[in-house]
Amino acid sequence: MLIPDTRSSIGLSLKAESFTESVIREMTRLNLALHGPERAINFAQGFPDFDPDGRLLDAATRALRGGYNQYATTWGAPQLRNAIARKQTAAWGRAVDPEREVTVSCGATEAMIAAMLAAVDPGDEVIIFEPFYENYGPDCVISGAVPRYVPLRPPDWSFDPDELRAAFTDKTRAIVINTPHNPTGKVYSQSELELISRQCVEHDAIAITDEIYEHLVYRGLHISIATLPGMAERTITISGASKTYSVTGWRIGWLIAPPALTAGIRKVHDFLTVGAAHPLQIAVAEALDLPASFYVELLGDYQERRDAIVDGLRDCGFEVSAPDGAYYVMAGIDSLGASDDVSFARRLVEEAAVATVPASSFYHDPALGRRHIRFSFPKKIETIERGLVALRALRP
Ligand SMILES: Cc1ncc(COP(=O)(O)O)c(C=O)c1O
Repeated sequence: MLIPDTRSSIGLSLKAESFTESVIREMTRLNLALHGPERAINFAQGFPDFDPDGRLLDAATRALRGGYNQYATTWGAPQLRNAIARKQTAAWGRAVDPEREVTVSCGATEAMIAAMLAAVDPGDEVIIFEPFYENYGPDCVISGAVPRYVPLRPPDWSFDPDELRAAFTDKTRAIVINTPHNPTGKVYSQSELELISRQCVEHDAIAITDEIYEHLVYRGLHISIATLPGMAERTITISGASKTYSVTGWRIGWLIAPPALTAGIRKVHDFLTVGAAHPLQIAVAEALDLPASFYVELLGDYQERRDAIVDGLRDCGFEVSAPDGAYYVMAGIDSLGASDDVSFARRLVEEAAVATVPASSFYHDPALGRRHIRFSFPKKIETIERGLVALRALRP
């Protein structure tokens, strides 16, 4: 992720030159090009191959017909900000103010870059646990942040408290947390979050926490770092509709932050995108009021998908620990005699029509990811079974 010294001959900016195109989307494209949509199985990109709940589709249709077709308030339609504030007030047990603490964005993706641009100056250090969701690298480059990496190590993807302490310096401005975690499925524990929060308070740093998988926790408990002592005033919490409501194409996300940070985030957001799609904001506002049974069913369905893919991958010879949260499995490839994640992932595309992601794309130093590939499983059970059949056929 280093910025090169000289501008390329085609005149790209040094920033744009310094990161590569998403490997995740590249694997998807290659698979489709080689095998076509009927045969290609996409375990690469984290989006569902099934429709969202019909109640969301009805709400979106009503909103489109209901006059919500011009710009919304730039920081979010009041209906959606109110719904976010209600839901989060209930979850956190403290009042969240929709007028001064909530901003709606074009997905959690825009939320993260808006948060960084609002809170981080060029040259500030930002701590990132790795492996990390691949957008965080380019987000650092775009905002001029200097990333400092703290490794999460298999099999349980824990971090060494001393390495975390050592990563905090007098230049640290922020730490990025993602729980439940993509790509490992780690759910940060209370004690891990307490350790992080103590460092944030001690170093006057802010926490930017991506909680887009907050409702997908199979083991343990989802804890928002914003609820820990001393953190409400220094945390930007990011979430969104993409994963919980199976609407990744709607591009609706949000940030909850103290008023001073929210004021900065809203300015950046306004000039980045003006705002997210108005009718879809109205529909997501309705989704946030779905009853508890929706979330119980969601989790049950994902648990079934998780168990199917974990058992199946083990059966194929991968080294796999069941993820505690989110919808990804990191699969070790050593046991299959493979030593290079990229060539192994390419082989799966070419010979089995199965797209996965080489884990090196989740590390600043690709060498650290050579021994894993990532499977994503927001897929129908029959898609998972079809993928496993194709993988079993590959076994030597
Ligand atoms: C950790 C994480 N954050 C954010 C996103 C993107 O969210 P959105 O669709 O809301 O932009 C993803 C998508 O895979 C993700 O895994």
